[in-house]
Amino acid sequence: MRATQFTDSYGPYALVAGGSDGLGAAFAGAIARRGVNLVLLARQEDRLKATAARLKETHGVDVVAVAADMADYESVKHLVGELDLPIGLLVYDAAYAPIGRFEDVTEDQLARAAAVNVQAPLLLAKLLSTPMIERGSGGIVLMSSLAGSQGSPNIAAYAATKAFNTILAEGLWSELKPRGVDVLACTAGAILTPGYQQVEGAKPAPGTMKAADVAEQTLNALGKGPIVIPGAVNKIGRFVLTRLLSRRAAIAIMSKNTGGLS
Ligand SMILES: NC(=O)c1ccc[n+]([C@@H]2O[C@H](COP(=O)([O-])OP(=O)(O)OC[C@H]3O[C@@H](n4cnc5c(N)ncnc54)[C@H](OP(=O)(O)O)[C@@H]3O)[C@@H](O)[C@H]2O)c1
Repeated sequence: MRATQFTDSYGPYALVAGGSDGLGAAFAGAIARRGVNLVLLARQEDRLKATAARLKETHGVDVVAVAADMADYESVKHLVGELDLPIGLLVYDAAYAPIGRFEDVTEDQLARAAAVNVQAPLLLAKLLSTPMIERGSGGIVLMSSLAGSQGSPNIAAYAATKAFNTILAEGLWSELKPRGVDVLACTAGAILTPGYQQVEGAKPAPGTMKAADVAEQTLNALGKGPIVIPGAVNKIGRFVLTRLLSRRAAIAIMSKNTGGLS
């Protein structure tokens, strides 16, 4: 899709939830390069402002930085409402992963994972799709993961929240396409981001990708189907895990990668 087509379909502003670092910052860069203005949300204000300034300088688009915690949806809704900007694209990238044995994970951690990974993308998709439907154009990208294709020990709750995003995006893709709104789940494998590199016990996974490549492949897939799986190795991996193997075998393979995480 040419930049002008992208702007027509998904401009004038894109909101990236979790847009200051890692994959979210890569999405923001790829969107700015296509000429669409940005609203970036993240918690740490310094890093958020630095990313916003860099993107403004490099791409000449307007970048609005708003410090917000996606765990507090009511406050996010208030802040976004106050901006009163026409948002044609939502990229929901922020996530929280309680890692470790289920018996060691606290209720607070589980509630936070549900708030950041389930409640916020669901309600933001509701909030922002309403004006998109009225305008007859727009796009929504929800970040999912290969971990959400089957049960994954030691990240069971995180993996389940990612499965939620895939299924939500599939349903909305079918429902909103006739209304002019493109919805897409990005079912990514391992990505070299600060978040991934911090995980203790994370093994170098085959097919690990650069954030910029994941963002580029995802934006290029918007409007072409309900799911994108960036990278050839990950496409094959998901096919094997979901179509060839039994659920029991898929969980066993996944547990070789995630069973040692803490
Ligand atoms: N990395 C991987 O290997 C991988 C694989 C598959 C799928 N994914 C998915 O890709 C997405 C991005 O992962 P990542 O590795 O790029 O993460 P990351 O490096 O940890 O970056 C996350 C971004 O989200 C922001 N953020 C985190 N929690 C937030 C919250 N509660 N409220 C607002 N902003 C928040 C961070 O800024 P602040 O900390 O300042 O808030 C940062 O800008 C996630 O949805 C993840 O599930 C990642």
